[in-house]
Amino acid sequence: MPHDDARPLLAANWKMNPVVRADAVELARGVTPAALEYAEAVEVALFPPFCWLAPVAGALDGAAVGLGAQDCHWERSGAYTGEVSAAMLSGWCGWVIAGHSERRALFGETDEQVGRKAAAALEAGLRVIACVGEREDEMDAGRTEEVVRRQLGAVLAALPAAESHRVVIAYEPVWAIGTGRSAEPAQAGATMGVVRHGLEEAFGAEAAGRVRVLYGGSVNAANVTSYVELESCAGCLVGGASLKAAEFSTMIEAVARVAAR
Ligand code: PGA
Repeated sequence: MPHDDARPLLAANWKMNPVVRADAVELARGVTPAALEYAEAVEVALFPPFCWLAPVAGALDGAAVGLGAQDCHWERSGAYTGEVSAAMLSGWCGWVIAGHSERRALFGETDEQVGRKAAAALEAGLRVIACVGEREDEMDAGRTEEVVRRQLGAVLAALPAAESHRVVIAYEPVWAIGTGRSAEPAQAGATMGVVRHGLEEAFGAEAAGRVRVLYGGSVNAANVTSYVELESCAGCLVGGASLKAAEFSTMIEAVARVAAR
């Protein structure tokens, strides 16, 4: 088995949405039938805001859908007003995202902090999706590979290779996130190859083989197939399109079709 779970992963990053609790529950209920129908072929995980973790968990009761938080703090407890620790989350969900580009750009998260968050997540028994990706100016300057390698190196240095089966890396070019300007599959595939190479350097081939690498950035029902059919791509991290139950359900089905090939 190449990773913790050999199925491709479709992860729904809801960001700071929906505003109303009932809408969060409805969205979770809306994607559950497709997630259940294709559960053998696709792993689905939802990442709602912290305050909707409990209601969404209730809505998913018994369903084959994973649940995760969008961020965590690296300390277990302490004087960190407004923060939620990975240890606290472990009672509510099984996953956490670390180092999303919005956290890096809007809240000043550093590579080192992302590494500490990812390490805390593993320590707490969670699975982690660590995000990497270059900004548009970095891409224009031909620095994509350098930036991705640096971000990846910082996070992997904080993680034990023996826990690689609980690690997922999402390559999300910043210029593609929420812009409708998704990366060309070939271009995304090349950078995911860089990620794969970095994983092998850091963890060794065997442990690296257990890590799934995802693409994220304006993935939708119309283009998801073009990513998951890439050799280097083991799923997608989806923002905007995951807020529409019908579209996300179509995406689950599309990924299942590729997995069945
Ligand atoms: P998007 O967001 O699908 O809306 O581009 C992806 C993400 O931020 O993970």
